[in-house]
Amino acid sequence: MFPQVRLRRLRENHILRESITENKLSINDLILPLFIHEEKGTHEILSMPSHYRLDIETMLKDVEKLIKGGVKKFILFGIPKEKDALASGASAIDGIVQQAIIALKKNFGNNIYVLADLCFCEYTSHGHCGVLENSVVLNDETLNMSQKLALSYADAGVDMIAPSGMMDGIVSSLRSALDVNNYSSIPIMGYSAKYSSAFYGPFRDAAGSAPESGNRKGYQMNPANRLEAMREVDLDVAEGVDILMVKPALSYLDIIRDIKNKYDLPLACYNVSGEYSIIKAAAQKGWIDEQAVALESLLSMKRAGADLILSYWARDFVSWGITE
Ligand code: PBG
Repeated sequence: MFPQVRLRRLRENHILRESITENKLSINDLILPLFIHEEKGTHEILSMPSHYRLDIETMLKDVEKLIKGGVKKFILFGIPKEKDALASGASAIDGIVQQAIIALKKNFGNNIYVLADLCFCEYTSHGHCGVLENSVVLNDETLNMSQKLALSYADAGVDMIAPSGMMDGIVSSLRSALDVNNYSSIPIMGYSAKYSSAFYGPFRDAAGSAPESGNRKGYQMNPANRLEAMREVDLDVAEGVDILMVKPALSYLDIIRDIKNKYDLPLACYNVSGEYSIIKAAAQKGWIDEQAVALESLLSMKRAGADLILSYWARDFVSWGITE
């Protein structure tokens, strides 16, 4: 007896195959991270091929090309010249991220959507994500500083704020600071379930934000935990978050799907530096087809349930000529 149900019948013709594709990836799904530094000129990031630390002038030229290529959403990370224990420079209106926001909005107006990552690890001399006391990052003191930082981003004209420090209560504290200062229309994307991951290695190299001692296990999530991610998301939702996020993406596709099944909010995932650089490195060795593997990995995030993907690959979409 031969099979009467044959799934291959719908696979053979490429026109039919295309029309019954369940998930599609588009450049509109992507948000590109940019590293902006206070030094002059550009600095190649060796651990993240095709990415650079940019100064404001080169950033504007770069972004102009990217916008022409179809990238519309960017998330900014700042690398300041001066660091200290209290990240005192972070909230200055002449700070690097604030100046980058002002320049981008002035030059590209409504053709660009600018998100700012909100964290202190790039600004602290010890490299931790907030105020440190006896090796512990103090939660509520860091919330106070975060409110100030969020307001400086808002004053600069940011479109959305994404707090990545994993402090408890961050969404409600930013929401109230923004609301009482007439910024109730600025959305917050929570790094809702952010794991303490070794996949952040190349980013810390890029941003100069590795902790001088210790690690981030005291505030970021344990990679072994799944139920706890739902508690994190519950809290962000209760605190009024606008978009949820899971980070990293590839090793956490189950978490993305769990959240998608339970919540109706838009969901993002962060396809982090390590996930990007391992594909780049293998491709440079000629071991894999870079574009095919990159697109397949991004598609897996869409299939898992992500609506938006923060990804370094957005830049390659432009060189590959993928404009939709
Ligand atoms: C800052 C921050 C990190 C990343 C984004 N925001 C690093 C970290 O938590 O140590 C990682 C992004 C990436 O690896 O691409 N808290």
